[in-house]
Amino acid sequence: MSQKINLNKGWKFYRGDLAPQNPADRWGGAKARAYSFGAVSKTLDDKAWRTVDVPHDFVLEGDYTQKRGTADFVQDIPEMESMDSRHFAGGSLEGDVAWYRQKFLLNDDSHKRVYLCFDGVYRDCTVYVNEYYIGNHVCGYTSFFFDITDFLNKDTENVIAVRVDSRGREGWWYEGGGIYRDVYLEVAENVHIEKWGAFASPTVNLGTNSADVNIKTEIVNKELTRKFVTVRSEIADPTGKIAASVSGGIDVGEWDSGMCVQHIHIENPVLWDLENPALYTLKTTVLLGDTVTDTSETTFGIRDIRFDADEGLFLNGKSTRLCGLCFHQDHAGVGIGMTYELWERRIKKIKEMGANAIRSAHHPPTEAVLDICDRLGVLVLDETRRMSSANDDIEALRMMVKRDRNHPSVFLWGIGNEEVFSQDCFQAERVTATMMTEVKKLDPSRAVTSAVVCWNGETRFDNAEKYVHVTKKLDVMGFNYCISAWDDYHARCPQQPIIITEASSNSSTRGCYSTDEKRGHYYILDPDNAAKAKNPKKAVKKDMAENEWKYFAERPYLCGIFLWTGADYRGEPTPTPYPAISSQFGILDYCGFEKDNFYYYKSWWSDEDVLHIASHWNYHDGDTINVHCYSNCDEVELFVNGRSLGKKPMEKNRYLSWENVTYEKGEIKAVGYRSGKEVMTDTVRTAGAPSAIDLKPYKDTVRKDGTAIIEVNVVDENGAIVPTADNEISFEIEGEFVGVGNGDPGDHASDKMPLRRAMAGKCMLLAKNTDGEIKVTARSAMLKEAICIIKTE
Ligand code: GAL
Repeated sequence: MSQKINLNKGWKFYRGDLAPQNPADRWGGAKARAYSFGAVSKTLDDKAWRTVDVPHDFVLEGDYTQKRGTADFVQDIPEMESMDSRHFAGGSLEGDVAWYRQKFLLNDDSHKRVYLCFDGVYRDCTVYVNEYYIGNHVCGYTSFFFDITDFLNKDTENVIAVRVDSRGREGWWYEGGGIYRDVYLEVAENVHIEKWGAFASPTVNLGTNSADVNIKTEIVNKELTRKFVTVRSEIADPTGKIAASVSGGIDVGEWDSGMCVQHIHIENPVLWDLENPALYTLKTTVLLGDTVTDTSETTFGIRDIRFDADEGLFLNGKSTRLCGLCFHQDHAGVGIGMTYELWERRIKKIKEMGANAIRSAHHPPTEAVLDICDRLGVLVLDETRRMSSANDDIEALRMMVKRDRNHPSVFLWGIGNEEVFSQDCFQAERVTATMMTEVKKLDPSRAVTSAVVCWNGETRFDNAEKYVHVTKKLDVMGFNYCISAWDDYHARCPQQPIIITEASSNSSTRGCYSTDEKRGHYYILDPDNAAKAKNPKKAVKKDMAENEWKYFAERPYLCGIFLWTGADYRGEPTPTPYPAISSQFGILDYCGFEKDNFYYYKSWWSDEDVLHIASHWNYHDGDTINVHCYSNCDEVELFVNGRSLGKKPMEKNRYLSWENVTYEKGEIKAVGYRSGKEVMTDTVRTAGAPSAIDLKPYKDTVRKDGTAIIEVNVVDENGAIVPTADNEISFEIEGEFVGVGNGDPGDHASDKMPLRRAMAGKCMLLAKNTDGEIKVTARSAMLKEAICIIKTE
């Protein structure tokens, strides 16, 4: 029976390189067990090494530097042109070599197989067990595992050693470094289900309201005799009741594997959709005679996706426009080691904004993302890192499809992003065809796209003429930007559905209403941007939120749109250069705090009434301010201290502005009207001086070792957030400190010290505990302290 043993806790960690520096060191090239030395040796005294839990991103523990040209050993890629160097593109933090060691004990159980599984290591890691070289895994974004059965000790401790080298780069954003996702052992009988080997693929018949589930179960036989294996597949409905079952047998040769294919018909299935994400469970039992040798539970959903070239996307027969966001994996306090809770909070927020899809850019996400999206009803464009059919890239693609194909949230596979050096060449036709064939072999049920940009790294084109010989092979055409090419392409390939894989790279710093390059702050609506920018070309951004959204919204043939990005991430500091160390494209900052644009999209994406003044009201007397307002009301009227500045009609998919409003202390109020009737108001008052700290935990209870997320606000004596406050706050934690952040692109303070200054009145603390409660005391000079308690369960 497969047993999962979590190995996340208590790794020994050393930053820097030690022998063996490569698997061929000393006798390693010649002898298998040649690593009784250096960091791999079982007798190494690693007590002085730090103890860390994974997920762990050690690159985040370094200092931000303005070093140009570091690691510029390969040709710069066009996405980095605005950032001068790979170092800035990578978040101004330095990659490094590091070692991890872990010990575990397993009782001798020689009829069992033991797999060592890593959900993700950035990157180029070499794994040793008990002084044996086990393998090397280069890609920093794929999950992988090794059969370590033969190398285990009998009844004595086993030692895993992992060398990670995060100096190399796979992207043009902050990529971190370390064992940044879960690690575990899977212990199985000799006859068992292959990892990611159970697949439930439903086809829905909307007319008859029924579904046919095609079930494939890959069985591994590690016995030295042929085995007749019975596979029992049961499907539990969303209430947990067994809806149907089937049993069948297959012969699996000795030391071989075999595929059992079964079908189950379901009448009146509860369909998975965005409002009711109903989940079924495939329960698989593997038997040799009457003896159960393995069981597994696989969550899946029954839903129908159809892409139409003229009418867009249909989910279960219902026209559904995808309002999506692209995400990288980076968060304040943890870097790339994003946990379940951090992703859940992010995804809940964007759902609240009206989003119904995400694009995992530009690599497969941690599986938790897909679990969350399955449960919350959010569709996912799941994307592989590199568009190539070279062995390693096909392996990465296969891993993604095999691991993720049961998730109902995954609606489309992405095989590439802006491969500007190759997307139009002759070879790209063959590469595309090979990648698509590999996908369809593992998952015939889903469509394939690729994110194409009309640009070859040097020249930008205003249509996709040069690419069409390749892109017409895709099930769904994907455009990154290139507004001018959409209608043209639709006319050229009228049978091919189109999705906008990337749009509106639109930068802003949370809570900031004036560009200040020295601080790394950017305000897209600052009328003086061109004068303020060192390089004016970079500061004039035409990717206003409304431009691309409005253009998209008026074209019903387009299936969906994915904005760049849902949240800020370190790296790609555009348009403000260093000292900014992070991007500012996010609708959320990298703590997950909403920026004003959140309300622009909420106005046009959600069904709720929205009215939001995009400004604070703490200026200097006499300042003149352009006040912008996001709303989906018919009309909005603005008042300063009770005096009307006029009522304006709201045009669909736009926002409203009142220019040159003279500031005076008090309040600014917007009133929204529908059909002439007042429906809602939004008021922003001048906040008083900072007086106290206010702690707001995301949840009052977290799972053991789960991340407690605490929003920290600086408030005035009436409890209102002070939008200009930047007080430094220190944290005392009973439990474990995880990290801090404030979303400020220009702040170089460490996320790994329990101390942070607020930015625009806010910062964030992350903490955890294995048992008992987490108690946080927050203090700052001149402010009233705050305490909060979070339980663990
Ligand atoms: C796109 C690219 C993204 C990001 C973005 C910034 O071209 O696909 O990864 O670099 O531009 O605007």
